[in-house]
Amino acid sequence: MKFINVAIDGPAGAGKSTISRKAAAELGYIYIDTGALYRTVGLNALRMGVDIQDDSAVISTLTDDLSVELRFIDGEQRMFLNGEDVSSDIRTPEASMAASRVSAVPKVRAYLFDLQKNLAKTNNCIMDGRDIGTVVLPDADVKIFLTASPEARAERRFKELQEKGINTPYEEVLADMIKRDYDDSHRAIAPLKQADDAILCDTSNIGLEESIRLIIDTIKGNI
Ligand code: DC
Repeated sequence: MKFINVAIDGPAGAGKSTISRKAAAELGYIYIDTGALYRTVGLNALRMGVDIQDDSAVISTLTDDLSVELRFIDGEQRMFLNGEDVSSDIRTPEASMAASRVSAVPKVRAYLFDLQKNLAKTNNCIMDGRDIGTVVLPDADVKIFLTASPEARAERRFKELQEKGINTPYEEVLADMIKRDYDDSHRAIAPLKQADDAILCDTSNIGLEESIRLIIDTIKGNI
């Protein structure tokens, strides 16, 4: 059986996860947030106390004992690190920076590659990330590059953090966003870039509901 695969890539804070989750629910597909995988590997490195700037130290955390697991509970993706549910712990600014750092290590990407491939092979899915349309699912049925201005994205992320009781100043959120954009698009391996055959969707000037509609219509119009 052939499953429908939709790849949604774009920078941090473009609304990829919220929009993809809603679109997947409406289409009856599963939603796979691949950033959560990198966040889990990053959190593990932080917890193990290794120097995350050092590639070989990061690689040393990918032991046979390490378990990075994605489970669906009530249709929602949850991340488990060595059996512990870390779905909230991976959302802090520290875990974000660690994720960005470890995601630049080729062996980390290779470590998570099969997991992503196998999920797509066995499910109708919307998979979001940075390199889904370019590297993980180059034959995806629909590819979307979802973006918005850094200011619009920082504003949204700032509000999200506040709602979770995390009081990071806006300026810091914006600076983090710009740094992560730079790092994600300038790294040597699987840099963030629009696939040649991806459809560009910019949500800087449209609200959430309109963005969800845009993505659902784009998917329906292209499968
Ligand atoms: O989407 P996010 O903010 O949860 O992603 C966390 C980090 O992981 C981000 O800095 C980029 C990286 N990432 C990646 O390199 N490739 C992916 N497919 C998804 C995320």
